[in-house]
This record gives sequence, structure tokens and C-alpha cells, in this order.
Amino acid sequence: MRVNAPMKVVSIGGGPAGLFFSIVLKRVHPAAEIVVHERNAPDDTFGWGVVFSDQTLGNIAAADPETFARIAADFVHWDAIDVNYRGRTIRAGGQGFAGIARKRLLGILQERALALGVDVRFRSPIDADAVRDADVIVAADGANSATRRAHETIFGTTLEGRRCRYMWLGCRQPFEAFTFAFERTDHGWFQIHAYQFDAHTSTVIVECREETWRAAGLDTMSTADSIAYCERLFARFLGGHPLMSNAAHLASPWLSFVQVNNARWSHDNVVLLGDAAHTAHFSIGSGTKLALEDAIALAKALAAHSEPAAAFAAYEAERRIEVLRLQNAARNSTEWFENVARYAALEAEQFAYSLLSRSQRLSHENLKVRDGAYVRRVEGWLAERSGVSEPIPPMFLPYRLREMELVNRVVVSPMAMYRCRDGTPDDFYLVHLGSRAQGGAGLVFTEMTCVAADARISPGCAGMYRDEHLAGWKRIVDFVHANTPAKIALQLGHAGPKGSTQVGWESPDEPLVEGNWPLIGPSPVPFGERSAIPREMTRDDMDRVVKQFVRAAHMGIAAGFDLLELHCAHGYLFSSFITPLTNKRTDAYGGSLENRLRFPLEVFAALRANWPERLPMSVRISATDWVEEGVTPDDAVEIARAFRAAGADLIDVSAGQTSRRAKPVYGRMFQTPFSDKIRNELGIATMAVGNITDADQVNGIIASGRADLVAIGRMHLADPYFTLHAAAALAYDAQPWPLSYLPGRDHYARTIRRAAEAAEVVR
Ligand SMILES: Cc1cc2nc3c(=O)[nH]c(=O)nc-3n(C[C@H](O)[C@H](O)[C@H](O)COP(=O)(O)OP(=O)(O)OC[C@H]3O[C@@H](n4cnc5c(N)ncnc54)[C@H](O)[C@@H]3O)c2cc1C
Ligand SMILES: Cc1cc2nc3c(=O)[nH]c(=O)nc-3n(C[C@H](O)[C@H](O)[C@H](O)COP(=O)(O)O)c2cc1C
Repeated sequence: MRVNAPMKVVSIGGGPAGLFFSIVLKRVHPAAEIVVHERNAPDDTFGWGVVFSDQTLGNIAAADPETFARIAADFVHWDAIDVNYRGRTIRAGGQGFAGIARKRLLGILQERALALGVDVRFRSPIDADAVRDADVIVAADGANSATRRAHETIFGTTLEGRRCRYMWLGCRQPFEAFTFAFERTDHGWFQIHAYQFDAHTSTVIVECREETWRAAGLDTMSTADSIAYCERLFARFLGGHPLMSNAAHLASPWLSFVQVNNARWSHDNVVLLGDAAHTAHFSIGSGTKLALEDAIALAKALAAHSEPAAAFAAYEAERRIEVLRLQNAARNSTEWFENVARYAALEAEQFAYSLLSRSQRLSHENLKVRDGAYVRRVEGWLAERSGVSEPIPPMFLPYRLREMELVNRVVVSPMAMYRCRDGTPDDFYLVHLGSRAQGGAGLVFTEMTCVAADARISPGCAGMYRDEHLAGWKRIVDFVHANTPAKIALQLGHAGPKGSTQVGWESPDEPLVEGNWPLIGPSPVPFGERSAIPREMTRDDMDRVVKQFVRAAHMGIAAGFDLLELHCAHGYLFSSFITPLTNKRTDAYGGSLENRLRFPLEVFAALRANWPERLPMSVRISATDWVEEGVTPDDAVEIARAFRAAGADLIDVSAGQTSRRAKPVYGRMFQTPFSDKIRNELGIATMAVGNITDADQVNGIIASGRADLVAIGRMHLADPYFTLHAAAALAYDAQPWPLSYLPGRDHYARTIRRAAEAAEVVR
């Protein structure tokens, strides 16, 4: 930075990011000399309206009240979202959005920047080399940023094309709500996202899958013909008004969204801002929001730090997490619209709920706060389908699989406790599983229970291969059945290449210090660097393993379990057959997915043939290896299909843990999208699991049809009474409590109600 000289700042690009940045910087650092170069003329913008949430408006108001006041004067504000699907319109209120013409927004920002003394130059295309001597060069030149492209490797740019085509159009039809409409054609689904942004005009974005677009011949149609096609398709929503294009400068009006990411947002004196740094799909309405919020953060960081590098680091540190959060939500949303066909079997009520909650950011309680009557209607609809007479929180809906009836949708996920001696579950297991059954979950799973001593993961794992095991399990099952309404499931497994390892609180997945036993697997591929190499299984080995499972299943019947699950996930024996990462066989059990599934399916079928007809069976799978050459979510649909054909009633959808090379994308409910995909593409019951931490999330998952059951692992270790606590918090009285605990229920409910009231007073 020059000593005692004003900071010289150049913005390449005068879109929302560059202009608002110049405004905020002028306010917080009036001495800065700012030039904004915009290649277009002042009123030369394509596009129609943009949308802001109430929260974004608050951020703009705090950063520059004048800009906010001007924008607010031009807003079209609306509150409801309409979902038009299969001849029905489902309306949800309380959504609080505002629309404004992009042109008007830019006009306001331009005037404000000029008034504050920013040197805004129109028709001034520029590249970074020409302004090299500025202290700070802001690359605000949009998603196709040439400034970024010039140093793509340094910024670590990744560009990911998506699967839909869309056209950004205008229309004189006044939409009174933010309107989604879906139309099915012979070529696939089309949808519109429509909202009014000034007194006379609305944005109408038409979108469809790339293959639908081609099959409909839109790839070769002129703009006029494309528009005529869309007018005919969505005629009943357009009130006779034509659709209008203002994208004459584009070769085709049909665009495809590109997800832009950068590993670094600055290099030397250049810093990326807005769409140049990151994009977020329009279906979440947040590209301009991110651009404006970036602008605020960068301007403030430059005012606070004398060195640009320190300012850039502070800006990136402040913004990166928020941007990632939004991009995650936007990705879920993008995928939802790319996969409308997946949801086409849902009835309008659930289709609309699934749409509204698509980003996994808007929860059941959020929706309730926004429009309680809407949520009550959804809950009523769900209740009716479960034979319940009035609306209740969806997590408490009963569920039936074959003759097993569950009192609610909450499941204690299988979790190894590593406390058995020679495989026998003792008093610890009785208290552990017994208290979780008393805690209100509808279904409680045993941990992976191993079918032979050498099938165990660790010396502490539970077994089902000796008489003592049967006696130990029967005592637990009897307790659960006698004292709680819960059902109890037996998860059977074989550790395969991940066997003979240390217990969970030592070095899990690493070999024992001493006393290791030999491992078997599909191929001699060790799990980790220090793992033993498994012996490639022969047909005799397979026959032996099938017998061990059938024996364990019979013991499970004798113990009185209600459901049997085969563990085919997480890199254990069957999972190691399914994933190509560890199955390198060249015989009938390796190669294609069909071959890799052969042995796990054979075991499953043998279990099904021996397990009582009246009782259900499930299978836990890893729906992705999180490794490029591994199992993909599309494969997972085929895996689930194959197990369904073998008699599976429920797919327990987990993911990963099959390879040390995995790069999982963690987050709230991060595996639930796989359950959603399998359930709705196949029409089979699924159980979601993975970082599901509260009742609100469970309610949302069930209401949206992303899963039929929700398994909760670690939260149940922290709170055995997860379900009872949720019932008290939601004032749901029909959840059965152990009779002796009823005074605790009422006391707990009063205590949390008072705490909530006190928090309300403080606010
Ligand atoms: C169909 C569609 C609908 C959308 N709807 C919404 C919505 O409802 N809500 C929302 O928040 N966002 C929406 N967006 C996203 C929004 O348009 C962008 O996220 C936002 O405009 C980003 O602002 P920006 O300033 O970073 O980039 P841009 O708006 O792209 O601005 C970049 C500017 O840089 C200029 N420029 C480029 N190169 C040069 C150069 N070399 N020299 C000088 N100038 C240059 C360009 O002319 C342009 O004016 C939508 C986008 C699309 C495509
Ligand atoms: C201590 C522990 C032991 C586990 N053991 C098993 C197991 O035996 N079988 C299994 O399928 N999953 C097992 N898991 C995975 C859980 O069932 C669950 O899928 C995972 O913890 C993610 O859910 P959560 O985020 O709710 O904890 C285990 C998880 C933990 C934390």
C-alpha cells in the first residue's frame, strides 16, 4: 500500500458486486479512489428480475441505508409460494421475498455510486494488465470472469456444468405468489419459476433437463419458436400474455448453469468478488445476495487492514463458510429441479413439501413459523395416510413393515459398543439397548452382530454363534418387548477385510497389537496401509459363510427379534464385494455390478428363505464410496433394486467407510439425499441416517418423503430419551412413556416451556 497516498481501487465489472462494493467502500473509507469499469452501457443489461429474502434486505439496509431506501421503494413484495402440479395448486405462506428489476437495481446502484464520488466508467471493457498499478483490483466481472481465467490455476478454479437448460424470460402476467409450475411432456418434465418484480412485469424462468430439451427439438429451434413452445406448454399460467426475451445478444436464449468454485479468492493485488468467485443456482435466488454480501465484507476488510493481503484473507475467512453453506443448499436445490421425474410419483401435498424443503435449509419448524396452517394441512394429509385421525408431528406417525408395527419413525442406529467378551452381550447391553427402547424410539438396532468369531471386527464385538449369545440376546429382546412398545432389530454382519482390529476408542480399523486372526475378502486387497491382506474367498468359504448367516438368523428367530438386517455397508465383507475398489475378482463374483452383488445377494436370499415370512428384512448399504471409481449413487439405486428383488423390505441408506481415499461431503443430514433418491426412484421404503440430530430434521425428512424411517446414531448415545424429549418439546402427548416416568414427562415439559418463554422475553 502506498504510504500516505489514497488507496487506489479498480473494479473490473459494474454488476451488483462491483457497484455495491464501491458504494460500501466509499462509505467506510471515503478517501479511497475507486474506478469501476463496466463494459456495457448503463441500461444495457439482460435478465429480468432478481429476488431478495427479508434477511438479505436487512444486510443491505445495515451497509447502506440510502441504497436500501431506494430499492425498497421499488419492491414488489410477496409472501406466498404456489406449487402447481398435476392440476393442483398448493400454497405456502410466510415466505417473505421481494423482487426488483435487475435493470432498476443496477440503475439505483449506479446513481448511488456516482453520488458518492465513485468513478464509474461505462462502455469500458478492461483487463487486469491495463490497471496493474492499482493497489487493489477487484475481479467483479461475473461468472465468466476473464480476470479469473487468466490465473485459473492459481485461483484453483473448478467449473461444473449442470444437467438442465433454462431460459430467462419476462411476462406481463402478474403472479400474486412466487409460482412454480410443472408440466409433463412426452420428452420429460418442464418447470417454470415465476415471480413478479415490478407493477407490470414478472420473471419467468423455463427449465428442463438437457435430454428433454434436445428430445423436444429445442436445441435447434429459433428463439421465437422456443418461446412459442413454452407459451403453449404453460399457457394456463400465463393468462394469455406472451413470454418476452431480452437476450438478443446471445446465440441461443437457452443457458446452462455452471457452478463456479475457487480454492483461493485472491492472488497478488487481485481479489475475486461475486459470481467471479462462486456461483449459486438461481432456484435458490441467491447469486445477487452473495454478490452484495461479499461486497460488504470486502469493503469493510479493506477499511480495517492497511495491507491488501491481510484484507483479502479477512474477507475470505468471513465469507467462505457462508458461501459454502449457501452453495450446499443451492446444490440440493439444483438437484431437486434436475430430478423432477424422481418426485413425479408423489402426491401434490408431498411434492410441494419436498420442493419447499429441497435445500434442507428450510425445516419443518421454519415452515410452521412461516405458515402454521399450511404445515397443519400437510401433517393432516400424512396422518390420514397412516390411519391417524388428526395432524401429528410426522416423526410420530406409526409405520408397518410386513407384520412389524412401529409406534413411530425414530430408529436407534446400529452402533458397536465393543464391550462383549467372546461375543456375549452382557448387562451393559441390556441397560444400553433397554434404556434406548425405553427412550421412545420405535425401533432399536443391535450393533453389527457377527456370525462367527473370525467374522468380528474386534475382540469386543457382539456375536450370534454360541449358545451364550442367544441367551444374552434373548434376555435383551424379552426386556424390550415386556417393558416398552419398541421393536428390536438384529443387524448381522461379517467384518471381512476390516476384521481383527482394535476397539472404537483405541485405533479403529487398525490391526490388533497381538492376537490377530486371518481375514477373508473378495480379493487380497488390504483396507489400510497397516491392515492384513485378506485371503481371496473360495467357493467353499462362501458356502461356510452362508451357513454361518443362516445359523445366526435361526438364533435371531429364537431370540425373538422383529427385523433382520444384513450389513452390506462400510467396507465389511459384503460391502467389500460390492465396491469395485476392493473386489478385483475375475470370476462370476467380480467385474460388473451384477457379479459383485452375486454373493451378498445369495446370502440375503438364504436369510430371507429362513427368516419368517411375517417379519421384515432390511439391508444396510453404502450408497457411495465417495471415490471417483467407486460405487456411485446411481449404482446404489441398482443395488437397492437387486436387494428388493431378493426380498428386502427396507433399504438402510448409509454411505462411505469403504476406502481410505474417500472424500465425503459432510453436513447436516448429508446422506439423506441418497435415501431420497433410492426411495423415490425405486418406490421402496428407506431409512435415512447420518448427522441427523434433532426432531425437526426427522419431521422434515418424513414429511418430504425422503425416507420412511430415520436412524439416529450418536445423538442416541448422548440422549437415550431423544424421542421422549422430542415428544415433550412438541407437546405430543400420545407418545407412550414408561408409566413410572410420567411425573418426569410433565415436569420436563413444564421446564422446557418455561425456558422457551424466558428466552422469548430476553429476545
Ligand atoms: C436466470 C437467472 C436468474 C437469476 N435470478 C436471480 C435472483 O432471482 N436473485 C439473485 O440474487 N440472483 C439471481 N441470479 C444471479 C445473479 O444474476 C448473479 O449472481 C449476480 O448478478 C452476480 O453479480 P456480479 O456482479 O458478481 O456479476 P454480474 O451481474 O454478472 O456482473 C458482472 C459485470 O461485469 C461486466 N464485465 C465483464 N467483463 C468485463 C470487463 N472485462 N470489463 C468491464 N466489465 C466487464 C459485465 O458486463 C457485468 O455487468 C440469476 C441469474 C440467472 C442467470
Ligand atoms: C460408536 C459407533 C459404532 C457404530 N457401529 C455400527 C455398526 O455396528 N453397524 C452399522 O451399520 N453402523 C455402525 N455405526 C454407524 C451408525 O449406525 C450411523 O450410521 C452413523 O453413526 C451415522 O449416524 P449419526 O450421525 O446419527 O451418528 C456406528 C457408529 C458409531 C458412532
